[in-house]
Amino acid sequence: MNIVLSGIKPTGIPTLGNYLGALKNFVRLQNSMTDYEFFVFVADLHAITTPQDPKTLKQNIKNVAALYLACGLNPERLVLFIQSEVNAHIKLGYAMQSICYMGELERMTQYKDKAAKQTQGITSALFTYPALMAADILLYDAKYVPVGDDQKQHLELTRDLAIRFNNRYGETFVIPEPLIPKKGARIMDLQDPSKKMDKSSDNEKGCIFLLEPINSIKKKIKSAVTDLETCVRYDKEKKPGISNLMTIYSTITELSFAEIEAKYVGKGYGDFKKDLAEIVACEVGKVQENFNRIINSQELESILNQGKERANLIANRKIDKIFKKIGLGR
Ligand code: TYM
Repeated sequence: MNIVLSGIKPTGIPTLGNYLGALKNFVRLQNSMTDYEFFVFVADLHAITTPQDPKTLKQNIKNVAALYLACGLNPERLVLFIQSEVNAHIKLGYAMQSICYMGELERMTQYKDKAAKQTQGITSALFTYPALMAADILLYDAKYVPVGDDQKQHLELTRDLAIRFNNRYGETFVIPEPLIPKKGARIMDLQDPSKKMDKSSDNEKGCIFLLEPINSIKKKIKSAVTDLETCVRYDKEKKPGISNLMTIYSTITELSFAEIEAKYVGKGYGDFKKDLAEIVACEVGKVQENFNRIINSQELESILNQGKERANLIANRKIDKIFKKIGLGR
C-alpha cells in the first residue's frame, strides 16, 4: 500500500498556520486519497533541537497527538505515533547524517533563520535536523508528504539523500514527493505579515494558537495589521496584511479571492474582519470541542499504543535491511 506521511513538532501549541497548512490539508487528503495509508506522528525528537521544559514538552506531545484526531483524521485509517517511541528513527537519522554533506545542511534556510535569531547555544542537533527528517520519511517508504511551504527545502534534501543512498547501496528507498496545498501553505504573522505565523514566535499577538480562548482569537483577528486603503482586495506584494487574512478566509470557506472581493465591495476592513473572526472562531471552536473530548480519553492512549506497534513493526524491518546494505553489524 502507498503511504502518505507527515509530522508536527511539539514545540508549543499548534497554530492556525499549522492547521491550514498541514492539519486541515491532511484531512482533505485522507478523504480524497482513499487507497493510501496515512502515517502521522508527533516529531518530539525534533522538538529538543531547541531547549524545552520537560513537563511542558510532555503536555505538548499529547496535545499534538490529540489535535490530529480533533481536526478530523480518521483513527481507522491512521497510524498515529510518537517519534521517540520508534527507535529506528534515531538509527536511520544517524545513517542519513553519514551521507549528508555539511554544505547541504548549511544551505537550509530554516536552520539559517533559527541560528540568526539565536546567537548562543545553537545545538548540533538543530544543524543535523534535516537528516533526521529525511529518516522519518524514508523509513516508511512514504510516497507523499503533505507539508506547508516552509518544509519544501527539507523535502528536496530528503529526495537527494534517498537518491544518493539508492545509487550507493542499491535500490532501497521510495523517492518521496511533497504535497503542498495551493492555498494556506504559508500563513503569515497577523502583526508582521512579512514573517510566517510560528508557534515559537516572540509576539503572541500575531499568532493564533489552536487551543487559546475563542474570544482572544477574535480579538487577534480584529487587531491584525492591514493598510490604509480600506478596500478588501488581494495583492500579496502591496497589501500583505489583508491578503493574508483573505487567504485564511479563503482556505476555510473555500471561496475564491474574487468571490471574497465581490462580497465586500463598498464595505470596509471592519466588516471583513468581523466576519473572518466569526469564521475562524467557528472552525477552531469545533476543533477545541473535539480536543476536549479526546485529550484525556482512553481512546487516545489506545490509538497511540496501536500506532507505536505498527510503526515499530514497519520501521524495524526497514532499518534492518538498511543497516545490512550499509554493511553494519555482523
Ligand atoms: P512544524 O511543526 O514546524 O510544522 C508542522 C506543519 O505545519 C506547516 N506550517 C505552516 N503551514 C502554513 N503556514 C504556516 N505559517 C505554517 N507553519 C508551519 C509546516 O510546513 C508543517 O507541514 N520539520 C517539521 C516536522 C517534521 C516532518 C517530518 C514533517 C519532522 N519530520 C517528516 C513531514 C515529514 C516541522 O518542524 O514542522
